[in-house]
Amino acid sequence: MKNQLCIPSVGLGFWKIPNASTAELSVQAAKLGYRHFDCASDYGNEPEVGQGIEKILQDGLCRREELWVTSKLWNTFHRKEHVRLACERSLKDLRLDYLDLYLIHFPIALAYVPFEHRYPAGWYFDPESAPPKMIPDPVSIGETWEAMERLVEAGLVRNIGVSNFGVSLIRDLLSYARIRPGVLQVESHPYLTQTKLLRYCQQEQIAFTAFSPLGAPSYVSLGMAKASESVLEQPDVQKIAQQVGRTPAQVVLRWGIQRGTSVIPKTQTVQRLGENLRLHDFELTEQQMATIGQFDRGQRFNDPGAFCEQAFGCYYPIYE
Ligand SMILES: NC(=O)c1ccc[n+]([C@@H]2O[C@H](COP(=O)([O-])OP(=O)(O)OC[C@H]3O[C@@H](n4cnc5c(N)ncnc54)[C@H](OP(=O)(O)O)[C@@H]3O)[C@@H](O)[C@H]2O)c1
Repeated sequence: MKNQLCIPSVGLGFWKIPNASTAELSVQAAKLGYRHFDCASDYGNEPEVGQGIEKILQDGLCRREELWVTSKLWNTFHRKEHVRLACERSLKDLRLDYLDLYLIHFPIALAYVPFEHRYPAGWYFDPESAPPKMIPDPVSIGETWEAMERLVEAGLVRNIGVSNFGVSLIRDLLSYARIRPGVLQVESHPYLTQTKLLRYCQQEQIAFTAFSPLGAPSYVSLGMAKASESVLEQPDVQKIAQQVGRTPAQVVLRWGIQRGTSVIPKTQTVQRLGENLRLHDFELTEQQMATIGQFDRGQRFNDPGAFCEQAFGCYYPIYE
């Protein structure tokens, strides 16, 4: 990152990890060498990640300063008076006194939902209303960013950044930011290489983290992708996996780090924790990198412009 800090290139993503296994999985991950946890209030499991982190530190598996913990500001907390409340809640749940990184989760501001009504609030304003609706709130990114900057000044977070932003929004943000975004986190995998966005971030020295780095598998259980669509099933990926003596998942994740992004694969399968982390003792050739890059077809699985309308009755495109 521009400020000379280093974000570990492989992290564990916590979206959809069941609450009951989250604490133990965090500890197992730390034992295997994970030093980067990608969390968010929206994932609904920060209290359990916090239990895991407490045990990791108590057992001396690593020191706090060796651990990189990211959390994300949810859409219902974009107003300046709510940003610090949301951050403090994540800190309390994670049992930390600072975050390494706090991201604006989406460039989508929704009507405020107080903690006592529902937490995490999710996308609906009121799930009991008929029909339940997502209610956008006209808050500028500038207002939210200024409140994010105050979190750094207050020592609650070390770095701030953005997620699901494109070049135009970042360019605008950089025109007024007193504290620059250190990280952009976006969906990226061989079907969505985001080559121009990555190049722009490299030019601006904004670290790039790829979410859903394995592509389709995360979206199969949500009915948003078919298992057969997985890049891990592509014969060319399987052939490269055979050539390097690794699994298809390791090949795809290695491609991610070798092109200069960090990756945050999620797994709740203990055997896969080690598999997804062991990426630094082999390399892909230029030819193998190019072969995987050729799968790009601009396919986005996580698109509010599609799922908000289907699931929450609100057409809300952000990338167009
Ligand atoms: N900023 C954002 O808006 C945003 C959006 C989405 C995700 N994220 C972050 O990015 C993280 C990762 O993204 P993701 O969870 O969507 O997708 P992902 O990590 O690309 O894929 C997870 C899926 O792949 C499977 N898997 C994991 N390792 C595997 C392996 N070695 N071989 C075969 N299958 C494997 C998992 O199954 P098992 O669990 O059963 O092993 C799960 O179904 C999230 O957890 C979250 O932290 C951020």
